[in-house]
Amino acid sequence: MKILLLGSGGREHAFAWKISKSSQVEKLFIAPGNAGTESVGVNLAIAENDFEGLKQFALAEKIDMVVVGPEKPLVEGVVDFFSNDEELRHIPVIGPDKQGAMLEGSKQFSKNFMMKHGIPTARYLSVDATNLQEGLAFLRELKAPYVLKADGLAAGKGVLILSEIEEAEKELREMLQGKFGDASSTVVIEEYLSGIECSVFVMTDGKNYKILPVAKDYKRIGEKDTGLNTGGMGAVSPVPFADEVFMQKVEERIIKPTINGLQKDNINYKGFIFIGLMNVEGDPFVIEYNARMGDPETEAVMLRIKSDLVDLLKGVAVGNLNEKILEIDSRSAVTIVLASGGYPESFEKGKEIFGLNMEQENTVIFHAGTKKEGEKILTNGGRVLAISSLGKTKNDARLASLAMAEKISFDKKYYRTDIGLDV
Ligand code: AMP
Ligand code: GLY
Repeated sequence: MKILLLGSGGREHAFAWKISKSSQVEKLFIAPGNAGTESVGVNLAIAENDFEGLKQFALAEKIDMVVVGPEKPLVEGVVDFFSNDEELRHIPVIGPDKQGAMLEGSKQFSKNFMMKHGIPTARYLSVDATNLQEGLAFLRELKAPYVLKADGLAAGKGVLILSEIEEAEKELREMLQGKFGDASSTVVIEEYLSGIECSVFVMTDGKNYKILPVAKDYKRIGEKDTGLNTGGMGAVSPVPFADEVFMQKVEERIIKPTINGLQKDNINYKGFIFIGLMNVEGDPFVIEYNARMGDPETEAVMLRIKSDLVDLLKGVAVGNLNEKILEIDSRSAVTIVLASGGYPESFEKGKEIFGLNMEQENTVIFHAGTKKEGEKILTNGGRVLAISSLGKTKNDARLASLAMAEKISFDKKYYRTDIGLDV
């Protein structure tokens, strides 16, 4: 098979690494990829959302399957683009169509979906210019802290958690007036849920599903989850509190009603569903849906999937996922992100990275933001590398990733040392 993977981050390197291990793959292309994906496939100078460019390439190269990493092409309708085009229709694209991607692309849509299908989530109200007074009244009904979410995609910055009611009222007005552009012309006000989070990943062909290894990501820049929010500074899988009893509740109360809800609503969903969950005293509540895998969770999750990923993806495309086997490694995986000093605020790019070809058993160095210049590999983003290790215990995995994190060097390298310690 010839596979075309879209995206350029650590998640895509992890996907590419896993896909390239499949005996069914003849050729793997990544649009646009990074310096890491180049070691397992062929990078293309085509942007992930350049649909016409992707079409020309897919036809010329006779691509058999497209796998979508990030949300952007999904929300912009890459699946619909392929299925509406006579020449492309035969190529399966792994990911939901535009409507399915609204589970991530619109908070209001996803909250309405959860309410309609009885899926546990925080109490909420959708507010726009027409019902501001109702929104302010709802805020006053809630207890602090106050959660305000821009309805649309806001580059991960659209959620505000505020401790004072005055501040929340002020922010609500500012969001509606365009603080996050169009994305916040509608705002979802939510009740605050107190608990510990985890990420559940489901692969579905629209009716059958497989639950992938559960992970937890570490969103803040500083040790012990302090400081600014980032795209994610590390991940651990499995998550000890997501035990059999908890996962049973997740499957019955959340996963099954989600898949059934998609079918009832006639939403064409063949791909990954990322369910961000809050464990509130042993009960799962949905914080958010994403229409894709998580980053950096994927870098930990892929290490724990023993089965051929391409075979599973074929099951998604064909609709016989129930006939496929998903075998999971019982060991733990810990991913530590090496970031550019200054991230998530301003940072410099273009620093040479040393030590990338060191081998260490059970450790994989996934590239997140890198680029190749001649023989050199340079930093090219805030999150530069995602070092992932398997270990017999969580701590073994953490220590292995840390050992590699110490050995690799670039100017102003920064990473957290406490990934996985809190669970
Ligand atoms: P979201 O983009 O919806 O995932 O929100 C970003 C982050 O804000 C989540 O990962 C949570 O840490 C936090 N958050 C969102 N909604 C709530 C809520 N209702 N209660 C508590 N924390 C929340
Ligand atoms: N790790 C969180 C995300 O991918 O959105």
